[in-house]
Amino acid sequence: MSAYPNATATATAATPSDDPACGAPLPVLGRDVTVPLVTGGEVGYAALDYAASAPALQRVWDDVAAYAPYYGSVHRGAGYLSQLSTDLFENSRRTVAAFLGCRPDDQVVFTRSTTDSLNLLAAALPARCEVFVFETEHHASLLPWRDARVSYLDAPRTPAAAVATLERALASRDPEAPALVCVTGASNVTGELWPVRELAAAAHRHGARIVLDAAQLVPHHAVDIAELDVDWIAFSGHKLYAPFGSGVLAGRADWLQDAEPYLAGGGASRTVARRADGGVEVEWHATAARHEAGSPNVIGVYAIASACKALEEAGFDALEARERSLVARLRAGLAEVPEVKVLSLFGDDAPRVGVLSFVVEGWNSSHFAAALSAEYGIGVRDGLFCAHPLVRTLLDGDPQEQGECGAPEAEPGARSLNAIRVSFGAGTPEEHVERFVRAVRELVSDGARWSYRTEDGRCVPDRGAAAA
Ligand SMILES: Cc1ncc(COP(=O)(O)O)c(C=O)c1O
Repeated sequence: MSAYPNATATATAATPSDDPACGAPLPVLGRDVTVPLVTGGEVGYAALDYAASAPALQRVWDDVAAYAPYYGSVHRGAGYLSQLSTDLFENSRRTVAAFLGCRPDDQVVFTRSTTDSLNLLAAALPARCEVFVFETEHHASLLPWRDARVSYLDAPRTPAAAVATLERALASRDPEAPALVCVTGASNVTGELWPVRELAAAAHRHGARIVLDAAQLVPHHAVDIAELDVDWIAFSGHKLYAPFGSGVLAGRADWLQDAEPYLAGGGASRTVARRADGGVEVEWHATAARHEAGSPNVIGVYAIASACKALEEAGFDALEARERSLVARLRAGLAEVPEVKVLSLFGDDAPRVGVLSFVVEGWNSSHFAAALSAEYGIGVRDGLFCAHPLVRTLLDGDPQEQGECGAPEAEPGARSLNAIRVSFGAGTPEEHVERFVRAVRELVSDGARWSYRTEDGRCVPDRGAAAA
């Protein structure tokens, strides 16, 4: 018999909504999946790690399944299915362009992910280009600029300070050299929105270009490249409910078309001929195809287009209102637990998406996340979230005591080395947020009900042990 017989009942009890803003979630895959609890029984899985990868929208899955029998190679095939697939692939490009509000001359390049998109742009920088990036960025935005001169900007503590910091840095740059600013739209650690429009205006005032890392923004907000006046946008399908391995880099064509192809090969080349001297002469495409060598991920691209349509049809006004309501419940619930310290760069009033990181006084974050999973069926994430400088800055600013895994009582003076992140989106039912808040409260007040041990640096339930 389970040591905690009412764990399942506790965890599955839904709290009725009294908030009209909180309409129904969009249907996603996995909403009926149950997972075992270490304490016995099963519970519906609460996927609260959307910022890492969001579940597929049911609509995306259905669209992909409906297309799959008609799947064919694109661009070069003479057969009916190849032509149909080519149309679908190129229509997907138009769908994404419309979703992002692209300008007439913008190009939409399909990549593998945000990381791939930013590496592609990094490979296309003009000579002597200087890059400006805040140290608070995800590593995907922080690290690709290996061949450029990079200015890493200190973490700003307000949106206005971000703009002022960028203005100062750009004012002292070499005005003769090209420059690029790379900035996140929404932080994958704090969920806070960055002042993208103002940063874009500052960049352009100083003759620089700007790329928006929208990995955490597009799943939550309407994004319009022209209205934000950014030069490029990068995002990933798997965070936009389309987990089939595709991403997007959209924006200005000039730097991309002046650059060497990201990958050399078929699809990127228009003509290839032997030269009289024995070498090979290549004429590369001057379209998005230039950077899409090899057979593209047609299903992944179609899945992104399907997700764009589904979100537009659901309406971002409604999606944002619903998410604001969930964020408010989450924050109100956590505010009642004094041991919980929410990590924030811009302060309590900063607008944010459904992404929030925190530490719990006296708890090892890995232990806390493991207990949420094993005892409540809640999937969150612990660590530094591929934004090491930012999380270290946030933790150092507010050092917390941290116990060993399996021993929640902290050594006095020990610090949190990592944090816990909870994140959600359009497919999240209110019950998941309610259950999460309840679980946090219970863990803090009663402690974990199971024993945990460290395995490969992670906290895991000690299956050989009885309850704690
Ligand atoms: C803000 C941000 N940028 C970039 C990335 C990288 O995305 P991907 O792993 O899909 O390349 C992530 C992933 O977590 C992210 O949160």
